[in-house]
Amino acid sequence: MAMVCLSDFEAYAKKYLPKIAWDFFSAGADDCSTRDENILAYKRIHFRPRMLRDVSMMDISTKLLGTEISFPVGIAPTGFHQLAWPDGEKSTARAAKVMNTCYIASTYSTCTLEEISAAAPGGLWWFQLYIHRNRAVSQKLVQRAEALGFQGLVLTADLPYTGKRRDDVRNGFHLPPHMKLKNLEGAFEVCKMSPLDPSVTWNDIYWLRSLTHLPIIIKGILTKEDAELAVRHGVQGIIVSNHGGRQLDGGPATIEALVEVVEAVQGRVEVYLDGGIRKGSDVLKALALGAKCVFIGRPALWGLAYKGEEGLQEVLRILQDEFRLSMALAG
Ligand code: FNR
Repeated sequence: MAMVCLSDFEAYAKKYLPKIAWDFFSAGADDCSTRDENILAYKRIHFRPRMLRDVSMMDISTKLLGTEISFPVGIAPTGFHQLAWPDGEKSTARAAKVMNTCYIASTYSTCTLEEISAAAPGGLWWFQLYIHRNRAVSQKLVQRAEALGFQGLVLTADLPYTGKRRDDVRNGFHLPPHMKLKNLEGAFEVCKMSPLDPSVTWNDIYWLRSLTHLPIIIKGILTKEDAELAVRHGVQGIIVSNHGGRQLDGGPATIEALVEVVEAVQGRVEVYLDGGIRKGSDVLKALALGAKCVFIGRPALWGLAYKGEEGLQEVLRILQDEFRLSMALAG
């Protein structure tokens, strides 16, 4: 089967993954309106292309907080990569390194941070944190990530509780017994209530700041008010995100929210986006509207499901080629 665009990987994953894994990856909250809007909103945005601008040489590299990456697409944090491929996050780390881009490893990884960093030494990894009720668990994770050479701490702000994903409820979603949330050393399994702390506030950014020298990037911002608060609390980056539509259904598409965030921030910190990126032209639209870089969630999982690290590399390469072509055709 020739893999030509990201939907080909989606179709493959849907056909070959166990239903419970496919449903978990594709789930959105409630009616999935926000999940679907993330994609539809790109179709309503049109370029004003310019001609005769000598596009024979193009530089598509960029920098994330000073570190160069080969093109402005990184890998968003998603949990449970072993549901897609046996080597799980180790394969993700290798693919990101080969493609010279950033991989944000989730708190809910099925490989340890040590395994991830050893899988492809010298890669650009950021660590995504959910703050746990037991703060010592989170503190240890942050300090482990920093010691292992992770270069950024991504605080996910949009999950005080997990959104209601109907198919996961219907399927009674759970990890197969041989897969573990290895970074949490049992903290997840032994908790009766959700181990995540719903009482987190902006003040906790100061607590994180006291734990680590890593730059802090806040993920899940959708309004100018929160963008301003993020800057005032000293973060180095903002990821405009609605968690792929898996949390609050009825919020804006991220590409729509991007504009007000970029306007509020006025270049004081870097602004990134995730949600609904499926083509190189989507990447270009996000950059044209002020994002420094975008991240892909589900498409990375589809790539893993297809052929592990090679499959994910293929997904990234296709996006890279499409992005370069869109840039050229837009002048
Ligand atoms: C996620 N996302 C997510 N975010 C996060 O901060 N920590 C996590 O562990 C996860 N886990 C997760 C699992 C799965 C299966 C999905 C689909 C998403 C959200 C993710 O980082 C990102 O915001 C979205 O996936 C982006 O949307 P697209 O690219 O999937 O449309």
